[in-house]
Amino acid sequence: MTIRKLRLGVNIDHVATIRNARGGPHPDPVRAAKVAADAGADGITAHLREDRRHISDDDIRRLKDEVELPLNLEMAATAEMLEIALATTPNAICLVPEKRAELTTEGGLDAAAHHAQLAPFIDEPRAAGIRVSLFIDPTQVQIAVAQALGADTVELHTGSYCEAVGSARAAELTRLQTAAREAHAHGLECHAGHGLSFETVGPVAAIGELTELNIGHFLIGEAIFGGLESSIRRMRALIDNARAEAHGRRSA
Ligand code: PXP
Repeated sequence: MTIRKLRLGVNIDHVATIRNARGGPHPDPVRAAKVAADAGADGITAHLREDRRHISDDDIRRLKDEVELPLNLEMAATAEMLEIALATTPNAICLVPEKRAELTTEGGLDAAAHHAQLAPFIDEPRAAGIRVSLFIDPTQVQIAVAQALGADTVELHTGSYCEAVGSARAAELTRLQTAAREAHAHGLECHAGHGLSFETVGPVAAIGELTELNIGHFLIGEAIFGGLESSIRRMRALIDNARAEAHGRRSA
């Protein structure tokens, strides 16, 4: 397998979280997306939540119109979000489970349990030329169902890996590696994300089957200390180094 460059999607939701803490226009997530582009991001990811706690409808429209990078719209599988996706035509959507009370997306989508309800949310955007990804836990059954549903991509939830310590983290990494192999063998594009940081990104970036990482909260938090451009550049370098080392190991 040829190891390709790993794309970095920068999730700018939490720039909007800070803006919304005071109301008004500052800080502007669209400006953050432009900084991300200059710092080496390959795409912008934004989650339009049902409760609009961070990203707004207008942010999505402006991200599509004013930013050159591809837009990955994270959304729940609801009629309202489908209508917005079809009207906005982002490059990709990523279907995520959404609970009103959660602080963040707590787990992957249970595609296996909800495949009948999910089908139209995959077929209609794909027919409109939008790539469709399912955010899933790294298990064989979820991957098989994603393929059966005709999704283009799966995004593996890295939250359990990032939260685990010691041998538990090593076990979670093995789950991600196995799932990425499985997804690739099923002909699915494979992404990963959630909770990744400078400390945790390397081993995930080294998984050769992955084509994209989506990272947000840590980058925006780190930007408080060193600036957004610097936090993205450092993440970009850690990803590229891990990738290059993995490639070296495979071809040695
Ligand atoms: N990928 C998906 C599908 C997500 O829902 C999120 C969080 O919005 C991320 C990636 C980014 O996670 P984090 O903000 O923890 O880096």
